[in-house]
Amino acid sequence: MTGPRCHGIVKSKRTRMNPHIAHIATELKKKLQSLPEKRDILKAPELRELYAQLKVTSQDERPAFGQAINQLKQELETMVLGYESAAESAALTPIDITAPFDTNIKPADRPHLLPTELGSRHPLSIERQVVADIFTRMGYDVLDSRQIDDDYHMFGSLNFPEGHPARDDYDTFVTEEGLIAPAHTSTMQNRVLKAGEPPIRSVLIGRVFRNEDLDAKHEHTLNQIEGVYVDRNINVGHLLATLKTFLDAYYKADLKFRIQPAYFPFVEPGFEFAISCPFCNEKGCMTCKYEGWIELLGCGMIHPNVLREGGVDPVVYSGFAWGLGLDRLVMMKHSIEDIRNFQAGKLEFLRQFK
Ligand code: DAH
Repeated sequence: MTGPRCHGIVKSKRTRMNPHIAHIATELKKKLQSLPEKRDILKAPELRELYAQLKVTSQDERPAFGQAINQLKQELETMVLGYESAAESAALTPIDITAPFDTNIKPADRPHLLPTELGSRHPLSIERQVVADIFTRMGYDVLDSRQIDDDYHMFGSLNFPEGHPARDDYDTFVTEEGLIAPAHTSTMQNRVLKAGEPPIRSVLIGRVFRNEDLDAKHEHTLNQIEGVYVDRNINVGHLLATLKTFLDAYYKADLKFRIQPAYFPFVEPGFEFAISCPFCNEKGCMTCKYEGWIELLGCGMIHPNVLREGGVDPVVYSGFAWGLGLDRLVMMKHSIEDIRNFQAGKLEFLRQFK
């Protein structure tokens, strides 16, 4: 090994150590190991002895002798420093890296941080749990969606051929390596289809990302609830009954719904699903913009190509899927006018949901 090392001894290329000094060096290094106070080695009598010998060394030998003693002293010093820094780091209190601040700092020394009992759960987290509970009772697995994905799950597996214009509706963020911040939770469809044999009943909830011009209705980061149901003999009736059951439970109402055809490459037929306004019962209010109806989500019967790509035989099985915005549901429930409130971190907003 060449070059200086922290604890090791560096042999000088210039000086060959005098055998007498070399012997003392070995002794001192041995002694250092057992010394409780490492720095005491620098005051060892053996070292002092060497300096005394230097004074009586002949003129010719003195420079080399002196250099060798200095070299030894330096080596010992480096070793002492090594011991000291090791001891210092061993003495540090462990840090809880999962905590939002250094928990070793006493509460009195961090007055700028709120006591945890003054915090509250984020409205989206609260409502995510409400949604998950309803679907769990309906027999669904509820899983998190992924927050970083690839072209195959975002498009290819969902029947968007390369260069298809429908890809433009999902403009999102892409890394230089080609990883995608998913623009919808439908990216999870292929994974749940591949994960097990039908019957498949899964709900995937998570963040999605869009390259949007931001305003009260548009955010770059939002949350979706994706549903996938696959079994034998599944039809549009099952899809509509499922969505109505969920929405009635969520809004605690007996809602009417209506559908109209819509195009999504991964479903055939595809629909837009609207509910009668849960707040005014079709009379017209601010939430439904006096229309009495609210367009809520996209859904449809899973396209045979998507089933096949997920390893499910479309001749034997059929299924439905939907994608619904969680933010939208919560905004309606609590009459929140601006979607940007969710991520603004404003305490006045967040404290209302305690
Ligand atoms: N992924 C679609 C979007 O974000 C919504 C959607 C439509 C999801 C139809 C579905 C579906 O599962 O069947 O615009």
